[in-house]
Amino acid sequence: MKFLEALRQRRSVYQIGKELPVDAEEIVRLVEEATALVPDAFDMKSQRVVLALGDKHDQLWDAIYDAFGGKVSREKIDGFKAGAGTVLYFYDADVVKALQARYATYAANFPIWAQQANGMLQLAIWTGLRELGVGANIQHYNPVIDEAVRTLFGLPENYVLVAQMPFGGIVAPPAPKDAEDISLRVRVAR
Ligand SMILES: Cc1cc2nc3c(=O)[nH]c(=O)nc-3n(C[C@H](O)[C@H](O)[C@H](O)COP(=O)(O)O)c2cc1C
Repeated sequence: MKFLEALRQRRSVYQIGKELPVDAEEIVRLVEEATALVPDAFDMKSQRVVLALGDKHDQLWDAIYDAFGGKVSREKIDGFKAGAGTVLYFYDADVVKALQARYATYAANFPIWAQQANGMLQLAIWTGLRELGVGANIQHYNPVIDEAVRTLFGLPENYVLVAQMPFGGIVAPPAPKDAEDISLRVRVAR
């Protein structure tokens, strides 16, 4: 797919299934390459990803359900659990702290930049998944689930959870988007 076409095809796909149109190894490669290629402020390499597949994905969504103690419906959680995997996005707080200490002038910016780089990584992987024919959506059950996620994957305290992206085969595509007058949001100055 061409870049803009891939961006156009990237949507929030909520009806996802366990059957993937590609080998899981292709998704592993996508996540690894995107993480290596996506830029970061001062090239600080603050981004961290956990790719949960198979049983680990199922265990993750059960742990998320448990962490909310029934406040999020089983049906909603099962919609995400129905997928084949989840990409968990983090940044490393120790990396951010080290850069803050080294470049005091920009200290306040580093946590913001880490979040921005995380968003770039989310978009790259989300779009790349769609290019592989895989549907995904993005969820934010953090911070309620932070401790459960750390325990399940054996992660250190410095991993700050930013987002969860369940993905899988596309069971049903999302409704088309409304047309938009983009000139209301983009001004071209020459
Ligand atoms: C920063 C950000 C946070 C979002 N958080 C959630 C979320 O917590 N749950 C959810 O279902 N969708 C979430 N979304 C998805 C948006 O609602 C969705 O991308 C938007 O409505 C446009 O639809 P599309 O993804 O199909 O293009 C989020 C999107 C972004 C960019």
